[in-house]
Amino acid sequence: KRVAILISGGGSNMVRLVETMQAEGYAAPVLVASNDPAAGGLAKARALGVAAAAVDHRAFGKDRAAFEAALLEPLLAAEPDILCLAGFMRVLTPDFVRRFEGRMLNIHPSLLPKYPGLHTHARAIAAGDAEAGCTVHEVTAELDAGPILGQGRVPIEPGDDADRLAARVLNVEHRLYPAVLRRYAAGDRTPVLL
Ligand code: GRF
Repeated sequence: KRVAILISGGGSNMVRLVETMQAEGYAAPVLVASNDPAAGGLAKARALGVAAAAVDHRAFGKDRAAFEAALLEPLLAAEPDILCLAGFMRVLTPDFVRRFEGRMLNIHPSLLPKYPGLHTHARAIAAGDAEAGCTVHEVTAELDAGPILGQGRVPIEPGDDADRLAARVLNVEHRLYPAVLRRYAAGDRTPVLL
């Protein structure tokens, strides 16, 4: 299976996905693309030998469809079987999602369906939750709401702030996403629970 990965920043999840694909051969990374030309993950992808492209969403102002049309060029040229969103911070239109429906994954830093959207760790702490975590799900037109393919849980410790909790959750993301992609690439939709 050919896998393309969309990032917006450092790409730490992308790095784990690429490293495990290269180490285990369960799929092949064919492209890393970012909406931000300054994304640190682009250089990391290239250092791992993976083609990387940047399509600056700011060049398209409010025209989301025009940005996505530009993003689709390198993306479709790579002929991916699976599209992974990994720290990708742009909302995609239903038209874009429909092109990849049933073969598009995202990782979200909360135990969905709790805390869709942003600032997930601060919200979990503010709510007094005992646990937090991350979710890998299939992407559908509704934001952060598709079928769950995996979840990883961590305790919220006394004195946690959002940054400390985010770091604890990120460590689990780095184990969860590769485990889910390995199964998903094999056609297995059984949820991974860490
Ligand atoms: C992190 O907050 C992570 O929880 C979420 O996206 C952000 C950046 O991740 N998935 P990455 O290092 O760019 O993969």
